[in-house]
Amino acid sequence: QQATKIAPSILSADFAALGAEVAAVDAAGADYIHVDVMDGHFVPNITIGSSVVKALRPHSNKIFDVHLMISPVDLFIEDFANAGADIITIHPEAGPHFHRTLQLIRSLGKKAGISLNPGTPLEYVENVMDLVDLVLVMSVNPGFGGQKFIETQLDKISRLREMIDASGRQIDLQVDGGINLETAPRAVAAGADVLVAGTATFTGGPAKYAENIRALRGE
Ligand code: DX5
Ligand code: ZN
Repeated sequence: QQATKIAPSILSADFAALGAEVAAVDAAGADYIHVDVMDGHFVPNITIGSSVVKALRPHSNKIFDVHLMISPVDLFIEDFANAGADIITIHPEAGPHFHRTLQLIRSLGKKAGISLNPGTPLEYVENVMDLVDLVLVMSVNPGFGGQKFIETQLDKISRLREMIDASGRQIDLQVDGGINLETAPRAVAAGADVLVAGTATFTGGPAKYAENIRALRGE
C-alpha cells in the first residue's frame, strides 16, 4: 500500500501570508494543497475565489486540490481551471446536473472530484465512477475548520473503499474534516488514502509543519 497523502487545507493558514504559507507546507512535505472555496450560500462561510488560486499558483508546484463549496458551480469551473487547479471537486447538490459538471471539469483537462456531505448517501457516486478521479468523504459539515470528526462517516469510507477497489479504477479516497492524530489512523484503516488537514497541519506555526505532516501520515 502507498503512503497516505496529506493535503493541508489552507483555510487554517495565515490569510495575510498565504503565498508563504503554501510554500511552507510544500517544503514541509504536503502532497496536495487543499483550497477550500466557500460562497456564503452553499455553505455558511465565505473564503476565496479563483483570483487567489491564481496568485498562489507560483508559490508551489504541488497538486492544487480545489474543493468548491459553491452553488451554482458550473459558471466558475473554467475560472478555477485557468487559475491553475489540478483537481476540481464539486458537491452533487451544487447544481441539477453534476454528471455534466464532472464532464466539464474533465473536458478542461483537469481531474474531477465529487464530495459527499455527511448526510449525502454514497449512492451519488455510483453512476459517475467513470468520471471521477477523487471521491471526498466529508467527515464534518462543510463551512468551517476545526470541527469534530463525525464518526458515522467511517462506515461510508469503508463501503466506498470496496466500491473503488471493485471498480479497478485509479480514484483517490479523500477524507476532509476533523482529521487529527487520533482520527487519521482510523480514517486510513477504513480505506482513506488522502487526508485533508487544516487545524492539524497549521497548529504551532511554520516550524511545526513538517512534523505535523509526518505525524498525520503515521510516520
Ligand atoms: C470544511 C473544509 C475543510 C476544513 C478542514 O468545510 O472543507 O477542508 O478546512 O479543517 P480541519 O482539518 O480543521 O477540520
Ligand atoms: Zn475541504
